[in-house]
Amino acid sequence: MSDVGIDAVEIWTGKLKLDLAETFAPEKGDDPAKYTKGLGLFESSFPDTYEDIVTMGANACKRLMERHDLSPDDVGRIDVATESSFDNSKPISTYIAGCLEQTFDGDFHHANKGERKFACVAGTQAIDDAYNWIRAGRNRGRSAIVVATDTALYARDDPGEATQGAGAVAMLVSEDPDLVTLSDAQGYGSADETDFLKPNQQFPSVDGKRSVQVYLARMREAVEDYESVAGDLHPDDFVYAPFHTPFPGMVRKAALLAYRHITRDTEIEEELADAIGMQPRREEFDDDEAFSEAVSAYTDDLKGTDRYAAWYDATIDPTLDISRRVGNWYTGSVHIARIAGLKRALSEGRDMTGERIFVASYGSGAQAEVHHETVQPGWDEEIAGLNIDEQVADRYDLTFEEYERVHAAHDHSKDRDFEEFTAPEDEFVFDGWGRMGERKYRYVE
Ligand code: CAA
Repeated sequence: MSDVGIDAVEIWTGKLKLDLAETFAPEKGDDPAKYTKGLGLFESSFPDTYEDIVTMGANACKRLMERHDLSPDDVGRIDVATESSFDNSKPISTYIAGCLEQTFDGDFHHANKGERKFACVAGTQAIDDAYNWIRAGRNRGRSAIVVATDTALYARDDPGEATQGAGAVAMLVSEDPDLVTLSDAQGYGSADETDFLKPNQQFPSVDGKRSVQVYLARMREAVEDYESVAGDLHPDDFVYAPFHTPFPGMVRKAALLAYRHITRDTEIEEELADAIGMQPRREEFDDDEAFSEAVSAYTDDLKGTDRYAAWYDATIDPTLDISRRVGNWYTGSVHIARIAGLKRALSEGRDMTGERIFVASYGSGAQAEVHHETVQPGWDEEIAGLNIDEQVADRYDLTFEEYERVHAAHDHSKDRDFEEFTAPEDEFVFDGWGRMGERKYRYVE
């Protein structure tokens, strides 16, 4: 059985930017450091008024197919992961295929299309579906396209407004991939939670503080589940650990707990013992409260060690390079974290072939999934072909008043007749509604 994994990737950011420290914080009466230091976010991406989850996804797919000289016949499956869908019946993948058919010869009539929903973990689930389809031998030599596309908007004045973002990641899943192969071993942590949900409403109902705790709890369960099949993790096992990144500060919390967990009973715990003692063990304490206080104190001390800081700087920080500048992309977020890590490796001239990365996805509601990936020989060429830095640099910088208009323009309950901020060129754009309430798209040269 040949290896299966991600063969190619492409990213498309919304074309507008909100500077959180300079533009957003002053209007909210906040210290800019809450964003840059606390949340770890500098800017958020927003879609221009002619962009949405379909245009961003289709534009990412078009670049992906062109870069790899693919035709519709090479694709047997298109799955879209999103939590920003505008249709409860017709999947976004049909709209995206319709866009692509405007510009490519041939069609996707023999490709299976669908839409995956489980908050932000759905992108990873769609990759899983593609992997299983290929491993089952049902792909007839064809690849799958997985698109993670979201407009992550919160209601105005919700605390989540600080962590918005918009963009799409398109990924080609194939046999003998050029970028990464996926492990069979996986771990899941899944429970019925009400931390973040959208019960038939556009903007989420969020219990922000609780959502942070649920993320950590489900992630811990997923890691333990993975270890039950793959053996205990050790920090030397992987060079990067891309996490779902609603904001980098969330990953900072998760990474610290993960490091504590994977260094327990290792030589690293012993080597740190002189400085901060050994990790507290439950049997040493009379009650849960005393144990949990000791664990918190140990974790604080661990955070201050050079050893932890060096691991964090090498393994986690590179994965946040894109997220800091674009905000939360929900389903796409963990996938831009993977790409950010590999981009950093490329810029440092590192040879990554054969190295492992540990990928930690999360979706509210709630489910975490973890697995590892092995970097393949074509990774450097694939990553070098991305133009995300140029896209990020070229975004239109919104004033606060313009941001308010953009938020309203994407609010489904409001009249959408708003002026655009940028001029579309060589891309798909939203083109109004059809007679059955469907959204229409056209390609602009
Ligand atoms: N200097 C430095 N740091 C500062 C600061 C300053 N002047 N002011 C505040 N901070 C720090 C705070 O201490 C805090 O850090 P810690 O948590 O490490 O203490 C951080 O900045 C944020 O400050 P607050 O907690 O006061 O911020 P808030 O109450 O306005 O809301 C939030 C933060 C709850 C995350 C909110 O943005 C939110 O609800 N976001 C949406 C939900 C979310 O992203 N949850 C993440 C887990 S769920 C998930 O991952 C799925 C998903 O994609 C949504």
